[in-house]
Amino acid sequence: MVEMRSAVDFYERHPISAEIILSRLTASRGHLDDLAPSELFAHDQDHYGGLAANDALAERAGIGPGSRVVDFCAGLGGPARYFADRYGADVTGIELTPARVKGAQELTRRVGLHDRVRVIGGDVMRVALPDASADVVISQEALLHVPDKARVLAEAFRILKPGGRLAFTDWVAHRALSADDRALMWQGMAVTDLYSFAAYEDLIRNAGFAVESAEDLTADWGEILRERLAMYRKLRAEAQTAGAPAGHDAFYESYVRFVDLVNDAALGGGRFTAEKPA
Ligand SMILES: C[S@@+](CC[C@H](N)C(=O)[O-])C[C@H]1O[C@@H](n2cnc3c(N)ncnc32)[C@H](O)[C@@H]1O
Repeated sequence: MVEMRSAVDFYERHPISAEIILSRLTASRGHLDDLAPSELFAHDQDHYGGLAANDALAERAGIGPGSRVVDFCAGLGGPARYFADRYGADVTGIELTPARVKGAQELTRRVGLHDRVRVIGGDVMRVALPDASADVVISQEALLHVPDKARVLAEAFRILKPGGRLAFTDWVAHRALSADDRALMWQGMAVTDLYSFAAYEDLIRNAGFAVESAEDLTADWGEILRERLAMYRKLRAEAQTAGAPAGHDAFYESYVRFVDLVNDAALGGGRFTAEKPA
């Protein structure tokens, strides 16, 4: 088994990449000319709840035409392009995994959004953006990988203008995990320390924000994850029958356990909205 050293190890082996997305599109439409941003949306959103989850964040963060949005842990840039295309925002994504930065840049250029969306390489614990330069900071299902969430929140606070808004989703722990489960989540999915709702809200307040809402998404995620696991099991069984690579075992094992933990309400999801006081 490959030893997990960081989130980058996990995302470098991720089955969805810009190449796979572009080859699927080439297969379905014959060529990649005049690709519209919306043609990527079925493929490039790496979070639960797809475009509706983006809309929920946009509404809570007040994203609109010209909003300067920073997406922490932007992945392949799917949400960033969506906020630019649908809401007219100017979006900067910060992304740690080099292959994802390159993929995000390629996809963004292909759909002609490079004047309003840029995904730059970097760690959200040290953001290379000036103080008070953003209207909104968002993030989706990514801070679970970041070892020092207080530092990330301090960086969000620093780069937001007074009155700027933070809206993000992340995993929460409704109860403490066993040492075995913590080790499994790290080995399979690069999950670091998780917080309860109350502890996460304290962390956000301690960074200087006024917390506006903390919504529990656990029941919604439970349903989404059950469906995803059924689909993943089917694909894995088909790949095994065909003698093709069936995916990374530590990931599979931890994912099955994760779905159980969410359905037992030990783990879950939260959507947090906060404001930097004016
Ligand atoms: C589940 S993906 C989410 C991608 C994107 N937010 C989306 O919804 O499509 C998590 C991303 O966080 C990135 N990441 C993990 N740790 C990071 C860090 N410290 N700084 C920046 N990005 C990080 C990973 O490389 C990965 O691309």
